[in-house]
Amino acid sequence: MKAAAARAAIAHVPAGSVVGVGTGSTANYFIDALGEIRGRIEGAVASSEATATRLKALGIPVLELNDVSEMPVYVDGADEITANLAMIKGGGGALTREKIVGAVAGKFICIADDSKLVDVLGRFPLPVEVIPMAQAHVARQLVKLGGQPVLRAGFRTDNGNIILDVRGLKIVDPSGLESEINQIAGVVTVGLFAKRPADVLLLGTAGGVETRCHPA
Ligand code: 5RP
Repeated sequence: MKAAAARAAIAHVPAGSVVGVGTGSTANYFIDALGEIRGRIEGAVASSEATATRLKALGIPVLELNDVSEMPVYVDGADEITANLAMIKGGGGALTREKIVGAVAGKFICIADDSKLVDVLGRFPLPVEVIPMAQAHVARQLVKLGGQPVLRAGFRTDNGNIILDVRGLKIVDPSGLESEINQIAGVVTVGLFAKRPADVLLLGTAGGVETRCHPA
């Protein structure tokens, strides 16, 4: 189902464009499919070092985001997604670069299998990227918000930071909580993608790939 959703995303890639590429197992299926049409695109912007390595291995030119003036689509997976296309991301730890590349793209296309579709975000622990010296302070603030933060052991992001995975949050107002957590000093990025949700969800199901568009 992940692979089918990833393959369906190829139809959303305009010829001659620069494509933003996410991180994770579903994104990896998309990279493989992109490799098959590499002659039809200018190149890709990667959301992580792992994605850049995989793109290059398939002969797809990897461009720096600062050198790109237009990027029609960004394609990435999610850990959870709602009917409003708000997401939790960062299970793979690439949330900061994912949010940056997604922000630049004209359209955010989420590719996911149907286990990722939820009514309310928060069963999946919410990843928060944090400057290491702020770990204790940020953890205390997250506890005040009702969460139980746990340090992702032995993990550093591509930006050299740590991740706190926060359990116990029932996220009824994803956009409000995204703002609130972003305000905590020492937080680099929260893995809530609600202010800039996906525009299109390609959902792999047992019956095929469903296309859902943002309701706005
Ligand atoms: C990585 C992510 C991924 O998109 C998310 O973890 C989903 O991964 P997968 O496609 O392997 O299920 O946000 O930081």
